Amino acid sequence: MKNIQSARGTRDILPEDQVYWDFLSNVIEKKVSAFGFDKITLPIFEDSSIFTRAIGNTTDIVEKELFGLSRLSNLVKDDEDKAQLALRPEGTAGAVRAYLEHGMASWTQPVRLWYQGPMFRYERPQKGRYREFRQLGVELIGEGSPASDALVILLLWEILVDLGLKDKVIIDINSLGDKNCRARIKQTLTQYFTKFKKNLCTDCQRRLETNPLRLLDCKEASCQPIKAGAPQIVDLLDDECKQHFQSVLEYLDELNIPYDLNRYLVRGLDYYTRTAFEVREIGDNRRQSSLGGGGRYDELIGFYSQKETPAVGFALGLDRLIDLIKTNNIKLPSPKKPDVCIIQIGDIARRFALCLVQEITRAGYNVVTTPGKDSLKGQMRVANKAQAKVALIIGQKEALDKSVIIKDLEDGSQETITQKNLIKRLKEKLSE
Ligand code: HAM
Repeated sequence: MKNIQSARGTRDILPEDQVYWDFLSNVIEKKVSAFGFDKITLPIFEDSSIFTRAIGNTTDIVEKELFGLSRLSNLVKDDEDKAQLALRPEGTAGAVRAYLEHGMASWTQPVRLWYQGPMFRYERPQKGRYREFRQLGVELIGEGSPASDALVILLLWEILVDLGLKDKVIIDINSLGDKNCRARIKQTLTQYFTKFKKNLCTDCQRRLETNPLRLLDCKEASCQPIKAGAPQIVDLLDDECKQHFQSVLEYLDELNIPYDLNRYLVRGLDYYTRTAFEVREIGDNRRQSSLGGGGRYDELIGFYSQKETPAVGFALGLDRLIDLIKTNNIKLPSPKKPDVCIIQIGDIARRFALCLVQEITRAGYNVVTTPGKDSLKGQMRVANKAQAKVALIIGQKEALDKSVIIKDLEDGSQETITQKNLIKRLKEKLSE
């Protein structure tokens, strides 16, 4: 066979794994609705400037990881086709675009949005790091109080609790300051790190010019001793940012949400102001292995619309959460088994069987059937494997009489029933 496989960094989620995804989706949908968030479905691709302007030109996501889109045709001439389109690497930029495009500023504030779906980053694939991965994202737009930071962190935490992960994870939290103190923070860090420039890794040397905050995030061994002596952002915050951060932490204490003050946390997207946080597995300090992350981005919407609009949100990496659920053997609710398995013998029976599939599924029951198989043995094997509660057996005689044999696969008893009375009898049997 020719070598045929999925593109690097992408994967199929096979039927046997859907049970994890269904579990995750159910928990998420229940929790976000309980917290009053409304679902928004955003496009998978946008004009690339939507991402570059929001996330920041000097971030890894924009510099190295954006997937551009082009039509595979050398006849493309019109302007629309020449526009730079990119696959979304995250959801916040698109959510903000949608907020502005649809005049959500005139809705009752804050606007609470959530979304779920695939994101794309051109990364070096490895376990837990994919080029196509899935996120749940939550954005609360139009509210600047520390209580709204606490509310979204509470939502994040409650999702983790319902997933059975509360003893496995911890929230790292920091404050990054805002436009009033950011310049001072950058200047102080630049002054400090410049003294050690020669000894910094090449990434840090470059970032010293473009984004000195990111030096705090470096995991290179050679940079660690230098980082250890660096000024701390929290000490450089102005009074308002300090007060805001203090209040957020007090709310988290009140809610018993476990967190670590992580003075090195800066996040890989440029739009954050004030509160920034990440979820990680307890004991896991690897680079780029966070299970989720978020924070406040009070300056992003004003950047497009001149109207200051504070906002806060987070995204959870669903692929990584599922890996964690699996490695911790978290018990999932059992998947629903089929109610009925239909077994037919012969051509006339096959036709009758298909009519019964229609009738039984319309009555709201799950059916498993293998109309392509002829042997009774083979079909019984399918019925037993599927663990259906009852089998309906149709031979030539039953098909002509418009009747079926109902076999109870739990106690082995069987009876013959007419098609007219089938649904009523099934209802009785399946509620036993
Ligand atoms: P982020 O930290 O870039 O934040 O991504 C959130 C989560 O997505 C990460 O913590 C991680 O679990 C997952 N993730 C990221 N890249 C990959 C990858 N290559 N493979 C697997 N999982 C990955 C954001 O995206 C922000 N939009 C979050 C946010 C919302 N901030 C405010 N609102």
